[in-house]
Amino acid sequence: MAAFTARAGRPPGLGIVLVGDDPASHLYVNAKIKSAAETGLHADCSQLPASASLPELLAVVERLNQSEVHDGILVQSPLPDSMGADAERRVFDVVRPDKDVDGFHPVNVGKLVQNRAPLVACTPSGVIEMLERSQIAIAGARAAVIGRSDIVGKPMALLLMHRNATVTICHSRTANLPRVTSQADILVTAMGRAGFVTPDFVKPGAAVVDVGTTQVTDRAVVERLFAPGSKRRDAFGRRGSLVVGDVHPDVANVAGALSPVPGGVGPLTIALLLRNTLRAAEERLAAR
Ligand code: GUN
Repeated sequence: MAAFTARAGRPPGLGIVLVGDDPASHLYVNAKIKSAAETGLHADCSQLPASASLPELLAVVERLNQSEVHDGILVQSPLPDSMGADAERRVFDVVRPDKDVDGFHPVNVGKLVQNRAPLVACTPSGVIEMLERSQIAIAGARAAVIGRSDIVGKPMALLLMHRNATVTICHSRTANLPRVTSQADILVTAMGRAGFVTPDFVKPGAAVVDVGTTQVTDRAVVERLFAPGSKRRDAFGRRGSLVVGDVHPDVANVAGALSPVPGGVGPLTIALLLRNTLRAAEERLAAR
């Protein structure tokens, strides 16, 4: 970071765009800005009201596309439903590919398919980083990914495949899901269904990475997942809501390694976002 700043005469810059007032999105964006500041990166946030139109949002992205001091652009999802079902795709399509630190632009997705993407989606990259740092062998392993979203499931499966895992992508229409996932040495879940993945989904000793996050406000769900007197139940009692992953807590008794939600891959996602921003900044500086 410091070397770039010395050469360029300014720090790497990240422009975040936040639309509406989804509380979780505000939390994520604040965490990104705080981490950026701690690492010497400039990050700012352009906020639009939930009532903003898609053309208004596209105009903000266009301003950041033209900006000399923004090397990376991140439009926080989800966007308000009122913007239309294809709003996210239309936004990701107009972010300049060389500033696309989310790795969501079709050019970067296409390059990821060919294993030559300069900028790759942050959460799946964070999962790979975590597996590698934990010395979990990916090459030759059987891996299962539950969820086929553009943001996590699809890029996750591609990254695992490029590291020579044998990958199965599972989704809501997969027949006999536990039978498929319980063959996997590495299981990554990205569904957003609280506690859905129970021990019968998991091969004993497998590495399980939970990427689902669901804000639960239904007491019955919390009582199904957490024992009376447990810390998480108490926390729900105080706050009336709880962030819960896809993976049922009992999976800890079966898995060889478990990255839970909360407390798992989140900080790595942010670290990879900052790394992508620095990469984008260096590429832009070199291209001048
Ligand atoms: N919302 C949840 N995860 C992400 C992400 O990785 N990038 C963006 N832009 N929005 C998100």
